[in-house]
Amino acid sequence: MSALLEADGLRLRFGAAPALDGVSVAIWPGEVVAVVGESGSGKSTLLRALSGQITADAGTVHYAGQDVLALSEAGRRRLMRTEWGYVHQNARDGLRLGVSAGGNVGERLMAAGERRYDSIREVAAHWMERVELDPSRMDEPPRNFSGGMQQRLQIARCLVTEPRLVFMDEPTGGLDVSVQARLLDLIRKLAKEMGLAVFLVTHDIAAARLLAHRILVMRRGQVVEEGLADRVLDDPRHPYTQLLVSSVLAA
Ligand SMILES: Nc1ncnc2c1ncn2[C@@H]1O[C@H](COP(=O)(O)OP(=O)(O)OP(=O)(O)O)[C@@H](O)[C@H]1O
Ligand SMILES: [Mg+2]
Repeated sequence: MSALLEADGLRLRFGAAPALDGVSVAIWPGEVVAVVGESGSGKSTLLRALSGQITADAGTVHYAGQDVLALSEAGRRRLMRTEWGYVHQNARDGLRLGVSAGGNVGERLMAAGERRYDSIREVAAHWMERVELDPSRMDEPPRNFSGGMQQRLQIARCLVTEPRLVFMDEPTGGLDVSVQARLLDLIRKLAKEMGLAVFLVTHDIAAARLLAHRILVMRRGQVVEEGLADRVLDDPRHPYTQLLVSSVLAA
């Protein structure tokens, strides 16, 4: 089996300090990879570079045999509409606020080529149920929903086209702890049912342990440690990972 997405030697600097300093990563079909590390370590930049939203100064990204960096803008958008999904930290960045909740989900289906109005409504309602939202509220605008509900709506919008690879940037950031736990559980369940490959950026080591098969630890634009989730968390080798794990235990 070959990697679904593979990046090699990614480098990117915005100013003086490198945001990505020679990062090589891969993800296999159905695998959940958590990316952890302190604020500013390059996690979001890595997701944006992997998904072709920004072009690295050096390095390569291949998805299912295609050179992502050589794709046209139209080609990249097509991937983003079909085989990929992107869940933003702030649900408002991933939703269209002027469109109803059901419309937010249905719109993705239409963008992927579905044209039958009845079945679009039906599938949108079904997906609202799958993320534990009341489908009878599908005609309400996203602003009527709470933060956690908006995040679930964003996930429904993202998964309705049954992507193979999903990028999630702090999907539980800014939410209440109890809401976070339920959302993580939902993500875990859906990823398993759908066989999704997920790049999950998180500050939360407990979330990484719960969801991820593998963990990448980033610091100052480099992956300083990577391995199976249990191994990295129970037997961290890099001093920075040791610090990260012990500071969570002490908290
Ligand atoms: N558009 C940009 N312009 C200039 N510098 C940027 C830009 N985006 C990121 N950076 C810089 O790149 C570095 C990595 O930022 P990035 O957003 O990837 O960190 P992060 O690990 O996602 O942090 P956080 O956990 O706070 O979200 C930081 O030094 C940041 O200031
Ligand atoms: Mg970030």
